[in-house]
Amino acid sequence: MSITRRAIPDASSLDEAIDIVRGNWLHEIEQHHQQYSGNSTVEDILDIGCSVGWSTRFLAQKFPSANVTGLDLSPYFLAVAQFKENNRPLNGKRINWVHANGEDTGLPAKSFDLVSIAYVLHECPAKATLNLVKEAFRLLRPGGTIAITDNSPKSKILQLLFLLYSAQNGTHVGQELSPVLFTLMKSTEPFLDEYYLLDLEAALREAGFDHVETVLTDPRHRTVTATVPY
Ligand SMILES: C[S@@+](CC[C@H](N)C(=O)[O-])C[C@H]1O[C@@H](n2cnc3c(N)ncnc32)[C@H](O)[C@@H]1O
Repeated sequence: MSITRRAIPDASSLDEAIDIVRGNWLHEIEQHHQQYSGNSTVEDILDIGCSVGWSTRFLAQKFPSANVTGLDLSPYFLAVAQFKENNRPLNGKRINWVHANGEDTGLPAKSFDLVSIAYVLHECPAKATLNLVKEAFRLLRPGGTIAITDNSPKSKILQLLFLLYSAQNGTHVGQELSPVLFTLMKSTEPFLDEYYLLDLEAALREAGFDHVETVLTDPRHRTVTATVPY
């Protein structure tokens, strides 16, 4: 909720902010898949880093005929996801919740048409991101789509925050972030610098993906989509 509220501060309600941020992201995924998948339908979806299941639920609603799996490192978040699903089931559909590391899921190769990684990579060291991208490539069928959404390095507001952050971190010279805010950011987001410095599009191409595309889906976030070649 806070992700969407901060991205669209002028929205008249939280629901409107959620509709814009999640709606644009889902639209981008659908467009990319329709354009490059050779008309294959989305039958199996994996949501890596599903947390308490928000992104998973949006994906399940967008692709109602698909089998949906939410995967996370945290058994606690998964327990909440399961609890929320039990309290508010999606029209008869059950989501498969998996506790695993997205870098090495143990799931069968070529078993998904869509792998989503939403708001996960800014929390990861670059090495983990590269492993997540490689694992997604292994898990997708030919024509399958990877969709990554997260902070955009091109967002003006995030550029300013990062400049202040990296000045304090010793990476750049410039104006300094207040020590309190810096400590808060560093302790909750320790890998932000690695996230911003990694060329994600190049990493996707390196892993074997085609049709790598990046769209600023709201003022703060980009959605990067790519396809596993046939
Ligand atoms: C900000 S939350 C994701 C939110 C969710 N995808 C959404 O869009 O609402 C980030 C999640 O990524 C998970 N995560 C981080 N690294 C992971 C990994 N290597 N494998 C699986 N999950 C991971 C964390 O446990 C956390 O639940």
